[in-house]
Amino acid sequence: MKLIAPSILSADFTILGDEIRHAEAAGADWIHIDVMDGHFVPNITMGPMIVGVVNKITDLPLDVHLMIETPDNYIQDFAHAGADLISVHVETCPHLNRTIDLIRCSDCQAGVVLNPATSLDTIEWVLEYVDLVLLMSVNPGFGGQSFIPNTIEKIERLKQMIDAKGLPTLIQVDGGVNEKTIARISSAGADVFVAGSAIFGTGDYKKSIKNLKDRF
Ligand code: DX5
Ligand code: ZN
Repeated sequence: MKLIAPSILSADFTILGDEIRHAEAAGADWIHIDVMDGHFVPNITMGPMIVGVVNKITDLPLDVHLMIETPDNYIQDFAHAGADLISVHVETCPHLNRTIDLIRCSDCQAGVVLNPATSLDTIEWVLEYVDLVLLMSVNPGFGGQSFIPNTIEKIERLKQMIDAKGLPTLIQVDGGVNEKTIARISSAGADVFVAGSAIFGTGDYKKSIKNLKDRF
């Protein structure tokens, strides 16, 4: 089962409710929410309050991507706001196993995220404890960037690691996912595709999501 998770980072926030309802009606599977703190990444975006608002608008699973330092301090806030899955960057977690436990104890699914330059070795000993691994295919911080090509090999290697352990872990890819890149990303082994500008940057969300799904 392959899924599309539109990133609201590229949505029109003056009409956020309409944007999310529109994406849901157009075939979105999850809603991806990019949380940035201006420290780990050079941009500041949204916090638990926005997650709470989105939770009132849609019943779709809320996929919360934390690009923040000291994520342990905020996991409960995001869980209470309605997050279904919380993903943390390995680069921000010196005690990653404990952070994953914190997410699970908050009744959320747990994901770990790797920046483009971060090795798959960093997650070898947590793979069995997470529901999802998110591979960044751009340097995090902004929408609308170009896909970094060697992510394809990284997806293939991660898929081998997951299969070798016989795990059901999902592979998610985030950054530069569009009609041109999605087929290769999919055939490399990805399950969940985050897309911001390839959906919210277009006039017809139904057509955009169908165009992506047709290329899985
Ligand atoms: C980037 C974010 C992405 C971003 C993707 O740091 O994590 O989720 O919204 O945007 P596009 O799909 O436009 O590359
Ligand atoms: Zn993201």
